Amino acid sequence: MFQNLTRQQVHVAPPSNPSFLNEATSYLRQYSEECEIPYYQFLRREGKVRREIEASGFYTQTTEELRYGAKLAWRNNNRCIGRLYWKTLKVNDYRHLSSAEEIYHALLDHLAMATNDGNLRSVITIFAPERPGFPSARIWNSQLIRYAGYRQADGSILGDPINVNFTEIALEMGWRPSQRTNFDVLPLIIQAAGDAPRLFEIPPEFVLEVPMSHPSIDMRPLDLKWHAVPVISNMRLEIGGISYPAAPFNGWYMGTEIGARNFGDNDRYNQLPALAKLMGLDTSSNISLWKDRALVELNVAVLHSFAKHGVKIIDHHTASEYFLHHRQQEADKGRTTTADWDWIVPPISGSACPVFHHTYPDTVHKPNFFNMPDAY
Ligand code: ARG
Repeated sequence: MFQNLTRQQVHVAPPSNPSFLNEATSYLRQYSEECEIPYYQFLRREGKVRREIEASGFYTQTTEELRYGAKLAWRNNNRCIGRLYWKTLKVNDYRHLSSAEEIYHALLDHLAMATNDGNLRSVITIFAPERPGFPSARIWNSQLIRYAGYRQADGSILGDPINVNFTEIALEMGWRPSQRTNFDVLPLIIQAAGDAPRLFEIPPEFVLEVPMSHPSIDMRPLDLKWHAVPVISNMRLEIGGISYPAAPFNGWYMGTEIGARNFGDNDRYNQLPALAKLMGLDTSSNISLWKDRALVELNVAVLHSFAKHGVKIIDHHTASEYFLHHRQQEADKGRTTTADWDWIVPPISGSACPVFHHTYPDTVHKPNFFNMPDAY
């Protein structure tokens, strides 16, 4: 099979990397088994991939391999309680796009497809992978939609404190919000492969938001809202040894992510004291459980408001039941569900949720999504 190669071509082929080849073939084997691809076809594909790697140091996945790999990355992600729906993931194969503008438009398409007027769909958009010697595009945002956090002269923060660094970078790059509010949607910062990063505003019609109200408490003084779709854009998708650093994906919210963490955490919007005051609770002593009572009502408000505006969301009790259903469904297929207990158990009412009362192996299988260092 080498007779067509010149000495030069043989010479420039990178040293074979046995672990890369192993990752590739073990994924192809899993893909073929689970998708019931005939064995002879698996062998043919495996041989082709091995020769491609030997010749060039890399290989290109088929759209079907990519599509199934993305679903497996979701199924294998130990921190996600929503994995029952792993098979329904919609995969946009956008590996052919390269300019920042093209990526920007693909991200807007992603938002529209995922938002679906409130009937949210799980979507992943996959851009070109990292190749040895070639950088790949990076999306600098941690999620496509996030709220700015501005450090004020007096040291306090307006907006979401978790995004202060990113906000400073956007401002340094020339972002000029028309006014500074608690909920300014940050621009996208897109860095095409080998290029400087560029800023792009997300037109408001791509950002569905839900104003917060409560069935019995007048929460208007808090003036809270949240965006409908969480699209994580700073994790690396790895399938068959190939890394896709630009592969934003979304599901839909579990209420506690917003009601307990984003609104309730001290170092986020920190709304418990203000809500407790509105509720007339005694905040002078811990034993009134004013934080707990405010937390519950904040979470009632989130679920109530999303439902009222026809935006898909799940409560933590249902999510827990669905997760255990998923785990059972997997067991019926002879597969063990790995999970990270600390992340699976919801941040409120843990022991009232069935997931609390089980333990899970937290082995990390691939394909998967991995954290990576910030691009900035
Ligand atoms: N916890 C994150 C947030 O509140 C979102 C993480 C992904 N969540 C999801 N339901 N897919 O913004």
